Amino acid sequence: MCGIVAFKGNNNNTSKVIFNGLKLLEYRGYDSCGIGVIDNNEIKTFKYKGRVRKTEKRFNESNIKSSIAIGHTRWATHGEPNDINSHPIKSFNGEFAIVHNGIIENYRELKKVLIEKGYEFFTETDTEVLINFIELCVSESNDLDKGISYALSKLEGAFGIVLIKKSNPKIMYAARKGSPLAFGKKGNDFFIASDATPIIEYTKKIIYLDNGQLLKIRNKNFQILDFNLNRISKKFKDVDVELEKVELGDYESYMLKEIMEQPESLKQTILGRIKDDNITLGGIQDYGKPLLETKRIIIIGCGTSWHAGLVAEYFYEKYIKVPVEVEYASEFRYRFPIINKGDVVIVISQSGETADTLEATRIAKKKGAIVLGIVNVVGSSIARLTEEGCYLHAGPEIGVASTKAFTSQLMVLLMIGVKAAYLKKNITQKKFHNMISHLKKIPSQINKVLELNSEIKKISKKIYKKNHSLFMGRGNNFPVALEGALKLKEISYIHAEGYPAAEMKHGPIALIDKEMPVIVICTKSDEYDKMIGNIREVGSRNAIVIGIIDKENKHVKDYLDFSIMVPSTSKDFSPIINQIPLQLLAYHCAILRGCDVDKPRNLAKSVTVE
Ligand code: G6P
Repeated sequence: MCGIVAFKGNNNNTSKVIFNGLKLLEYRGYDSCGIGVIDNNEIKTFKYKGRVRKTEKRFNESNIKSSIAIGHTRWATHGEPNDINSHPIKSFNGEFAIVHNGIIENYRELKKVLIEKGYEFFTETDTEVLINFIELCVSESNDLDKGISYALSKLEGAFGIVLIKKSNPKIMYAARKGSPLAFGKKGNDFFIASDATPIIEYTKKIIYLDNGQLLKIRNKNFQILDFNLNRISKKFKDVDVELEKVELGDYESYMLKEIMEQPESLKQTILGRIKDDNITLGGIQDYGKPLLETKRIIIIGCGTSWHAGLVAEYFYEKYIKVPVEVEYASEFRYRFPIINKGDVVIVISQSGETADTLEATRIAKKKGAIVLGIVNVVGSSIARLTEEGCYLHAGPEIGVASTKAFTSQLMVLLMIGVKAAYLKKNITQKKFHNMISHLKKIPSQINKVLELNSEIKKISKKIYKKNHSLFMGRGNNFPVALEGALKLKEISYIHAEGYPAAEMKHGPIALIDKEMPVIVICTKSDEYDKMIGNIREVGSRNAIVIGIIDKENKHVKDYLDFSIMVPSTSKDFSPIINQIPLQLLAYHCAILRGCDVDKPRNLAKSVTVE
């Protein structure tokens, strides 16, 4: 998720179009910002870590007036967010500059080819590989259009790009595969952006590029081509958008947007990692061996990230077959933890900045553990401190209550677990492939769960006025109960507790009456029959019982007041799917109670103090 704005036209407008546009796109990321222009036969870039206004100030101080510019606001995916890794990125011979949104999956292979041809690299980005590859293809084919289109056809992954060429300030190219690009034209002014917002101030007539399309602007004309350079005819369409609303699209809140984004964010998490019936996690390749040889894994996190660790514990003990401990970072750091040689510590953090998790990471490293990070924000403190790890690639999470980061954390943890189990020969190749096919299906299965939104809204109307609630699960769905309870309490302020279902008898069942709704996670599992017993115990005490079920357990409906039927997956992976209805339930209860779901009272997105 990055934001792109590009402009070719009247040079009095350049700075305004680019920087106002980038400010509107800051919701797509704001790690760094940059602009590239052609001035005096040179490509000049201004790019800095930080928000748009910093780059705007420095650029405006330069007094450069250029009739062509590309701008970018970054959500880092490869390489930490610093000045050098910021976009635009110039090619090795300085002929091109590019802004890029997306991830180039085959950048390692391409980089090898480029290094053999004498290319040197100055950033840690996949984008530098991309622009150098384009430069190489153009010089080898001796034809600009052919070189660019050939290079694009060889790229794997996702991209939305705009590029400019030093020796010809009258041309600009843009291309899309996966990452969105909108194009507008007013007179001789041309605009390109990641969404329509930066453009609609100037024109409401927009063309959205489709995947596999290349836009070429030359002088006062433009063409849309496919990657074989065939002409495509596309018409401008009127867009009807209110500026303030675009950041959120049609959503009322970031939380809802992020819940709904999960099929896409999970696809991004999987992208390039699950391929051809295999799992490749580039970020932990070197540390794969210690992970396979370790006698003990410790997982550390706070809040939702800690819950993700608990789900992994069930999977890792079952399939990697080593003892796993899951620790609150705040407890770990203060209790003289014993770390043995070869212990692997997995640190989980969406923000990569949580103070307790950061300190726990330092301690684990100091004590000699091999520390792997599972982090969403690229270049964050924890990401920098850990030896290796995996980014979530879930895109910026803005709502304080974590949703899409949680499901991406689970996906990464499970991918690690499945691969490690296979490499340790704890599962057969057939089982390995079977697990992979289940993981691959999850994004589309989540789409199906999201279709139940209005049904879940109706159910939430039955419970939103209650003051207390209980969530029950067993096995790997016990952490789902904990996370479901956390979501409800943090955004709706309804008191909620998560319990392993069998523990109800040891106390909580005393609380049950008609004022205490109980939410049970009861999809296919080894403990299913026992779960039914637990459901009947609370039902017979007049609680409203809401169950998350799947078709394999549909007869449990008889014991439930309301049921939410989700698609079936392997019981080992069901927590990813089962969490989604609980996010929606919490969301609707909070909205019905008039709460600000994006900014719940007393909470912060990133807790950078103890
Ligand atoms: C805060 C957030 C939670 C998050 C927790 C840990 O409490 O509100 O959503 O789970 O911090 O944050 P981290 O960024 O380390 O995952």
